[in-house]
Amino acid sequence: MVAALCPRRDARKGITLAAMKTIMLQVNAAQPSAATIEQAAAMIRGGGLVAFPTETVYGLGADAMNEEAVQKIFTAKGRPADNPLIVHVSSRQMLERVADEISAQTKALIERFWAGPLTVVLRRKPEVAPTVSAGLQTIAVRMPKNKIALALIEKADTPIAAPSANFSGRPSPTTAAHVLADLDGRIDMILDGGATRIGIESTVIDMTASVPVILRPGWITREAIAEVIGEVRQAQSEDELKRSPGTRYRHYSPRARVVLLVGYAKESIEKICRESLEQSIIGFIGHTPITIDDSKIVVVPLSNSAEDYARHIYGAMRELDAQNPSVIVVEAISEEGEGAAVMERICRAASEIRITS
Ligand code: TXA
Ligand code: MG
Repeated sequence: MVAALCPRRDARKGITLAAMKTIMLQVNAAQPSAATIEQAAAMIRGGGLVAFPTETVYGLGADAMNEEAVQKIFTAKGRPADNPLIVHVSSRQMLERVADEISAQTKALIERFWAGPLTVVLRRKPEVAPTVSAGLQTIAVRMPKNKIALALIEKADTPIAAPSANFSGRPSPTTAAHVLADLDGRIDMILDGGATRIGIESTVIDMTASVPVILRPGWITREAIAEVIGEVRQAQSEDELKRSPGTRYRHYSPRARVVLLVGYAKESIEKICRESLEQSIIGFIGHTPITIDDSKIVVVPLSNSAEDYARHIYGAMRELDAQNPSVIVVEAISEEGEGAAVMERICRAASEIRITS
């Protein structure tokens, strides 16, 4: 599975923008201030770009019904024009403003997993800004489980199109500081609601196929989905992945070369790290407590769980990258359950995968 999940394309584009002032507002995640939410909602209604926290990662939001506003997202992120956006809603009624032909199966999924990290791909309504769907007849929708996000969408009273709030090709942001590092001067506002709870992006499932297809694995597992709707498939072929254009690009990458180690014991991990150290600084992200006495190795220890990896993997890559290592060595975790989504993200970031027999 590991090798099949690693397409190699770089989506970065050099786009220059007239600098604007990016306003950072602190928001209490448990009790968002009404005045702050109103300020951000007014920005959305006025066609501006607002980054906000969700339970997965930070999103870069614009009014999904406003074509000009949606186009600004692509420019700010340097996002390829053929990669459609997820629309965020705060109610079932709002879902009906953007999507058509909502089947009983889709309703059952929504009932079980919303608000939460599940994105459903449905037939689109014509009122949605065309660029949201990047030329497709479908639309991806989810209801985030985050008080700030829900309050913002409700107050703006419009569905909000929001990709992850990183510069295209960089790791998704799990804190407001990550957003600022990538997009300062390129967007209007950031709502800082602290670190996100899950840390990796939502599961994307195409409900327009005769048998629903998971286009991007995420925190909601295939097994959990199958319990609700029965048969569901994982997209495998290139052809199927074309239906979720974002999955074709190399993603989530720090600047350093990432080497993923699958199944190695402590001594072998230490040997590989020592060999790389002969060249320059290296980073290590893993759950095995390695002991190498060398100031050139920077270690981010994680516990051996999908929760801990999901929450910290992007931040760890950013933190290590800031120290300019030549290599970041990442230790794999099990692909059971939620681990599958975590491993998919690490695979996409990796230039090299070493598997021991
Ligand atoms: O957790 C998340 O999903 C985060 C937060 C902000 O909600 N959003 C996010 O958005 O990860 P983004 O743009 O980074 O990833 C959206 C994915 C891409 O792989 C894109 O190709 C796919 O969803 N997608 C969007 N619209 C689609 C459509 N109509 N059909 C198929 N795939 C679609
Ligand atoms: Mg993204």
